[in-house]
Amino acid sequence: MAKTEVKTSLLDNMIGVGDMVLLEPLNEDTFIDNLRKRFDHNEVYTYIGSVLVSVNPYRSLPIYSPEKVEEYRNRNFYELSPHIYALSDEVYRSLRDQDKDQCILITGESGAGKTEASKLVMSYIAAVCGKGAEVNQVKEQLLQSNPVLEAFGNAKTVRNDNSSRFGKYMDIEFNFKGDPLGGVISNYLLEKSRVVKQPRGERNFHVFYQLLAGASEELLNKLKLKRDVSRYNYLSLDSATVNGMDDAANFRTVRNAMQIVGFLDHEAQSVLEVVATVLKLGNIEFKPDSRVNGLDESKIKDKNELKEICELTGIDQSVLERAFSFRTVEAKQEKVSTTLNVAQAYYARDALAKNLYSRLFSWLVNRINESIKAQTKVRKKVMGVLDIYGFEIFENADNSFEQFIINYCNEKLQQIFIELTLKEEQEEYIQEDIEWTHINYFNNTIICDLIENNTNGILAMLDEECLRPGIVTDETFLEKLNQVCATHQHFESRMSKCSRFLNDTSLPHSCFRIQHYAGKVLYQVEGFVDKNNDLLYRDLSQAMWKTSQPLIKSLFPEGNPAKINLKRPPTAGSQFKASVATLMKNLQTKNPNYIRCIKPNDKKAAYIFSETLVRHQVRYLGLLENVRVRRAGYAFRQAYGPCLERYKMLCKQTWPHWKGPARSGVEALLNELEIPVEEYSFGKSKIFIRNPRTLFKLEDLRKQRLEDLATLIQKIYRGWKCRTHFLLMRKSQIVIAAWYRRYAQQKWYQKTKSSALVIQSYIRGWKARKLLRELKHQKRCEEAVTTIAAYWHGTQARRELRRLKEEARKKHAIAVIWAYWLGSKARRELRRLKEEARRKHAVAVIWAYWLGLKARRELRRLKEEARRKHAVAVIWAYWLGLKVRREYRKFFRAYAGKKIYEFTLQRIVQNYFLDMKNKMPSLSPIDKNWPSRPYLFLDSTHKELKRIFHLWRCKKYRDQFTDQQKLIYEEKLEASELFKDKKALYPSSVGQPFQGPYLAINENPKYKKLKDAIEEKIIIAEIVNKINRANGKSTSRIFLLTNNNLLLADQKSGQIKSEVPLVDVTKVSMSSQNDGFFAIHLKEGSEAASKGDFLFSSDHLIEMATKLYRTTLSQTKQKLNIEISDEFLVQFRKDKVCVKFIQGSQNNGSVPMCKRKNNRLLEVAVP
Ligand SMILES: Nc1ncnc2c1ncn2[C@@H]1O[C@H](COP(=O)(O)OP(=O)(O)O)[C@@H](O)[C@H]1O
Ligand SMILES: [Mg+2]
Repeated sequence: MAKTEVKTSLLDNMIGVGDMVLLEPLNEDTFIDNLRKRFDHNEVYTYIGSVLVSVNPYRSLPIYSPEKVEEYRNRNFYELSPHIYALSDEVYRSLRDQDKDQCILITGESGAGKTEASKLVMSYIAAVCGKGAEVNQVKEQLLQSNPVLEAFGNAKTVRNDNSSRFGKYMDIEFNFKGDPLGGVISNYLLEKSRVVKQPRGERNFHVFYQLLAGASEELLNKLKLKRDVSRYNYLSLDSATVNGMDDAANFRTVRNAMQIVGFLDHEAQSVLEVVATVLKLGNIEFKPDSRVNGLDESKIKDKNELKEICELTGIDQSVLERAFSFRTVEAKQEKVSTTLNVAQAYYARDALAKNLYSRLFSWLVNRINESIKAQTKVRKKVMGVLDIYGFEIFENADNSFEQFIINYCNEKLQQIFIELTLKEEQEEYIQEDIEWTHINYFNNTIICDLIENNTNGILAMLDEECLRPGIVTDETFLEKLNQVCATHQHFESRMSKCSRFLNDTSLPHSCFRIQHYAGKVLYQVEGFVDKNNDLLYRDLSQAMWKTSQPLIKSLFPEGNPAKINLKRPPTAGSQFKASVATLMKNLQTKNPNYIRCIKPNDKKAAYIFSETLVRHQVRYLGLLENVRVRRAGYAFRQAYGPCLERYKMLCKQTWPHWKGPARSGVEALLNELEIPVEEYSFGKSKIFIRNPRTLFKLEDLRKQRLEDLATLIQKIYRGWKCRTHFLLMRKSQIVIAAWYRRYAQQKWYQKTKSSALVIQSYIRGWKARKLLRELKHQKRCEEAVTTIAAYWHGTQARRELRRLKEEARKKHAIAVIWAYWLGSKARRELRRLKEEARRKHAVAVIWAYWLGLKARRELRRLKEEARRKHAVAVIWAYWLGLKVRREYRKFFRAYAGKKIYEFTLQRIVQNYFLDMKNKMPSLSPIDKNWPSRPYLFLDSTHKELKRIFHLWRCKKYRDQFTDQQKLIYEEKLEASELFKDKKALYPSSVGQPFQGPYLAINENPKYKKLKDAIEEKIIIAEIVNKINRANGKSTSRIFLLTNNNLLLADQKSGQIKSEVPLVDVTKVSMSSQNDGFFAIHLKEGSEAASKGDFLFSSDHLIEMATKLYRTTLSQTKQKLNIEISDEFLVQFRKDKVCVKFIQGSQNNGSVPMCKRKNNRLLEVAVP
């Protein structure tokens, strides 16, 4: 759907006048009336030319919706009713399209709505400028810088619940397309005195309350804070909460905003730590403490808070404590330390808190700037928004240094306003080629000069006084002013040289008064010097610099001892002057736009319009002068095009269309209306109208003409509408008639046709019914005859049937009765027969019983008889047998059975032996065979026989032995008794024959000498290994056993090494294992025993031990002790060595290894 462009204008539906320039007559009353009228109708914005006057509604109006944004977007400034959006749009479009840097200066009293206005401007710009992810992020960062700065820089005051306590100027930078690139914020003079003290009914900066209300318990603990506001001296209690302000929620908003703006987590944390430190500083209290020399000294009351501060900031407690008690003054390499009294200590504490906070604030601004600064180096267009504290006048001479500074700033802004407004006006006239007439207005340069003049301005005086040696007080400063400024028109003081004010009681002695452009302000001189000095003792800044917290360290660069600077830091006044000067320079390069905010009442209340308050503001803002300046030349100007478009209906030539340039159209129009020529001028592109009256005349004419035109249009339209309506009706009527006639004819025809049909059908029906009736009658008659006949037959038949039935019934009854009679007769007969039969049966039964009884009695009798007969026969037979046996006994021998039995037994035994003779096993004693026994009763005999046989064949076998063999077997037997099941070596020795002298000593000539030395019989001669008890190694020796001695000889030479009589051998020891080691223990004290016991190993251990045993036994009649144990002691000279047999590894082969472990242990590893 095509959007129908509704051309509206500021002049449409006007309440009062939308532009004060059009006010007629123009005076203060009409001006205020107009403002009030508009305010009452919710029109809070009014123009003075291009300046926007805004009256704070103190309630939310429905005029800031996105629809409104769309409405004002890309529209001409005067096209719609006055709005801050119109101004913002104008500014933005000028910036974008005309390539001119812009600034918006928002001024007004505290609470007049400046900050809100600046936010509205920013939100409008954000809504209409470019879109896209990157742009949106820039916008979001720019917008979110506000909550952060407001939390730290705003506070509740009696004038405004959210009063900005700092001046803010923000440059928003755009690229050539009008997309925002970034921004730069400058801050001016934070009201830091608020940190330590707030006037009644006001609060400290929001952030303190937000932190205590909104921080989590964990965060509070970290910051060593308690949630209770009343614990902190720096927080005012009477207005700790603000209506409609949720501190906790705002805290979250601020933290979120910090995150969006780009604060890192640790930075945000450090910021909160500084805030907590400031809060806690306020709780440090001092008490007097006198020193011996009588100097005043102070002491910290409770060091707990100090301790916590030091923990929070990482400052050494003693350093900070000292900084609170001493002040060091350095001058020309000289250091003087003086103690601080209680008042000075409090001053130092507050100065530290104020400085810490204000420096933190500046740091925050810089940090935000770092985040929001434009990232590109392309050329930027800049839009500055200045939201600075308005002119401030307190009652009762409560105005101090801060107000002085603030008012100075406003004075400067007024100056730039005058300069730029007039300049602009002038420029436009020149541009449009219109003659310029001068207009008188109040120029406040003189006041600015009074304050900022470098030689004798008030600020210069103050600085001079502050730097002067000697005693400096606020009074000496006032005296100086009294001298220097006495003659200044705008300076008033009771004691000034000029005695103008000597009797002015409204002017206290400790005050001076300045006639500002906005009114007279009485300044209390007390505190000027201190505040201008803004002194923070160096000891404190040095203590702060020693913190481990990087943020705090960076806030106190002058505390760095390496960069000690004996020069005084610039005073607060001169700093501010300098920054205002920079700001002014900056603003002058831009195209200014003004929003002048007005506060309608002092109660922050909606709907109340206090005339005196507004009048005062209108006066000091110079709004009326503004209008006058604007009207000085021409009250109204408009481009030719829109002007012609608006008024063309007033002239026949231009109505409805003007074919030609717009300017000549306007000319023709004004000529026709006979407007005096002096009332207007033709510019290059605009028509300038001198008097608003002319414009109103035009407007009235237009309104009237519009009404006429409307009537005309109405008339023509109505005529046209009626005619068209009539024609339409007539045409419709004909159509309807034709249709109706046709319809009626059709209806009539159909009716006739259907009537004929009805009649026809009636007649046919009647005829048919008649015929039907006749036919029916005939048919009924026929049917009646048949029916009657049928009835007749039926009656006949039924009667016959009845008769037959009666007859049958009678017959049946007879039959039944007959049958009953027969039946009862038969039953009676049956009963009788049954009775008879029963009786007969009883008789038969009784008969049978009787017969049975008789038969059984007979049977018993017969059986008895038979038994008796049988017994007789048996007895007879026995008797016969007895008789026979008696007869025959004499023919048989007595005891024949026994004889036969014995005979049989003898036969069996005989056979057994004969059989055994054939089955005998071999005569070898080791033959285990033996035939099986044939009869069980021969078992013991069979075993005994086996035993006897075995003994016999053993004897047989033994009888074959020679004496030599006997001896050998004896020895073997002896060995078996000694070693069987005791020593593992034994089984392998059983198969070896004992040979005794293995070495043929007698035959071998090598051993001739040895043979000669021995006279006795040699029982054993064999090579053995003698184990060296010192190291376990072995040497071969010839081992000789004779009847009485044991000899050891060298294997090679045959020389006798030792000789032991057998009586001296006490014991032989050996292991239980499969080795050939054995020890021969000698009697203690014997000659042979001097070298200790012998330890040997031999392949024929069993034989040797057995022979040694037997020989000893036969010679000494004593049994030699043979000990079998895996661990035994061997005497070695004086020591006893333990020989221990262990399980050796298989790796060493099958030879046992002998090793001396230490001097008490010899270890033999047996595989
Ligand atoms: N346009 C407006 N619409 C509604 N309320 C407003 C408007 N302008 C200001 N206010 C109200 O007035 C209060 C003070 O405004 P603010 O801009 O903070 O004053 P200033 O900055 O001039 O001291 C705001 O908190 C708000 O409640
Ligand atoms: Mg503000």
